Amino acid sequence: MKMKLIATLLAAVLAVPLALAHEVVTSPDGHISVTAGVKGGKPFYQVTRDGEPIINTSYLGFELNTGSLKDGFKVVSRARSSKNETWTQVWGEDKDVVNHYNELRLGLKQSKGLKLRLDVVFRVFNDGVGFRYEFPKQAGLTDFQIMDELTQVAMPTDAQAWTQPTQGTNYYESLWTKAPLSQKPEVSTPITIEAGDSLYMVLHDANLTDYASLNYKPVHMAGAAVTLVASLTPWQNGVKVYATAPFVTPWRTCIITRKPGDLITSKLMLNLNEPCKIADTSWITCGKYVGIWWGMHMKDYTWAQGPKHGATTANTRRYIDFAARHGLKGVLVEGWNYGWDGDWTRDNKFSYTKAYPDYDFEGLQKYALSKGVSLIAHNETGGFAKTYEDQMEDAFSLYERMGIHAIKTGYVNRLMDMKEDQHSQYGIRHYRKVIEAAARHKIMVVNHEPAMPSGLCRTYPNLISGEGFRGQEWNAWSNDGGNPPYHICILPFTRGLAGTMDFTPGIFNFTNKAVPKTHPQTTLAKQLAEYVLIYTPWQMAADEIENYEGQPAFQFIEDVPTNFERTLVLNAKIGNYLTIARKDRESDNWYIGSATDENPRDLELSLNFLDAGKQYKAMIYADGPGADYRTNPYPITFTTQQVRQGDVIKVHLAPSGGAAIEIVPVLPVANK
Ligand code: NOJ
Repeated sequence: MKMKLIATLLAAVLAVPLALAHEVVTSPDGHISVTAGVKGGKPFYQVTRDGEPIINTSYLGFELNTGSLKDGFKVVSRARSSKNETWTQVWGEDKDVVNHYNELRLGLKQSKGLKLRLDVVFRVFNDGVGFRYEFPKQAGLTDFQIMDELTQVAMPTDAQAWTQPTQGTNYYESLWTKAPLSQKPEVSTPITIEAGDSLYMVLHDANLTDYASLNYKPVHMAGAAVTLVASLTPWQNGVKVYATAPFVTPWRTCIITRKPGDLITSKLMLNLNEPCKIADTSWITCGKYVGIWWGMHMKDYTWAQGPKHGATTANTRRYIDFAARHGLKGVLVEGWNYGWDGDWTRDNKFSYTKAYPDYDFEGLQKYALSKGVSLIAHNETGGFAKTYEDQMEDAFSLYERMGIHAIKTGYVNRLMDMKEDQHSQYGIRHYRKVIEAAARHKIMVVNHEPAMPSGLCRTYPNLISGEGFRGQEWNAWSNDGGNPPYHICILPFTRGLAGTMDFTPGIFNFTNKAVPKTHPQTTLAKQLAEYVLIYTPWQMAADEIENYEGQPAFQFIEDVPTNFERTLVLNAKIGNYLTIARKDRESDNWYIGSATDENPRDLELSLNFLDAGKQYKAMIYADGPGADYRTNPYPITFTTQQVRQGDVIKVHLAPSGGAAIEIVPVLPVANK
């Protein structure tokens, strides 16, 4: 009774319009503070770290189809809460994830205009901030359209940022470039900002499920050096988002760290997604795969049937045998199904169940399973999402029955269904539908030409990997010669922060007969380093299998795991060099990858992370004498070294070179 009375009194107090027009919420460690509220009727927030402005006063709001939701507001309620929990990833770079934040929920109401209520929820972590808008169910708001989101990020300085432009970029496959924010055109997220020697920031979104992709456009406004204003990818008719109240937006996120490496280990985006919705995840596995794939890009094979058809029964058996011999668990086969003949981006006739006559789909999968391997089915859609959706249930049922638990999807077409942008709400809804349908059929998805990931893999860990960046394939056919040497030193700090990457490393043969001036602009040792630097739970050995025969360096690809207990960034300068160490989830082994840009470099790697008192053996694959990505990528040395905690391994990286190291505990020699 007494409790009830107190609760009623409290509710009454909270219902009274607040005298204060703003509130402050800090990170659990007290360093980051968000001030949020209403200024002159406009919702705003600002962020400081130890008192230093990180984001200046930035306004919030929307234009709806019925009017503005940007002014005339009062704060009518506020609620605070906190969470400190640890959850376990089904797969990932770190097994356990700490989700520790303080939350502030501001209830806003317009006293004029649409007279609507809008909540803004802030979560402040030790490494950044996320906020989202919530449209409560209320009179005057059922179905509505967001014509513009007005979220601002007002930057105190015109900092250098790594970005990709939205215009002229297809599938998020541009090179990331660095320039002051004010000089940028409209750019997609993530945006990686070098705001100072000890201030790194990343702007992105989290939990994008039924909304439009988030882009930002720099504008000049009073009160900031440069202000980024949200710009959502629209439907063709100009509407940004179709919504029905109650409705929540994705989180708008800003990671804030002192070191670039801490961006890589941040879990802020994953923490802002819903927990796993798949009850039994035992069928979600990790592994490595080969594929009838690079051969097409090298023009040794064709996707379509014909004299050079790659996906033949005999060829696929060869790949299955190779995978089984080397402990790889998957074989991706492209061009196995009807639909590749003609221009499949215009006149789509793909079948996802019917194999070409020279490909014994069911027989091959039985053969693969008998050898502890499985096919990975390729589902190129040519961007025809509806056609895919129509066949999805049949196809996924077939794969499930056959024991195929992984597919690679593709959307090569600038528009989806020849009309809507892939990154608009239309596209986002489709990608989500595929992930959910696949989950029902116990199928993991590697999504090429995807939505920019935003952490959905926490909720649906069957979304294992994707593209949305310039992958290895650009080293096969790009007429600019391939990905530049600095590419691998940027990707983990940019696209990699949005989610796992199906980069497809491991090209051992640098001769490109099809496009002779194009080849991986790396050394061989750097190709190995990519297995550690670029994370995905299913990692490809991308070259044609004959190029691995008799290559001692292939041992590293066989050994390196794809599911880790812990990840540490040992050194990093965005765009120049990077070293990551990861501890295997299944053993006490550690794996290290180092890479440099076009400049050679000598790095000292401190092994402080090894267990005290234990003896280990380090197996080091490094650039050999004369290795140089321009003239001779092949020289590679293999050396071993006894190491223990605190030791330092010195590695020399050639121009665009790398090093890959496996460190395994050595059993003590038994006393005689
Ligand atoms: C583009 C994808 O990225 C590539 O991996 C695939 O081979 C082709 N599309 C054909 O689907």
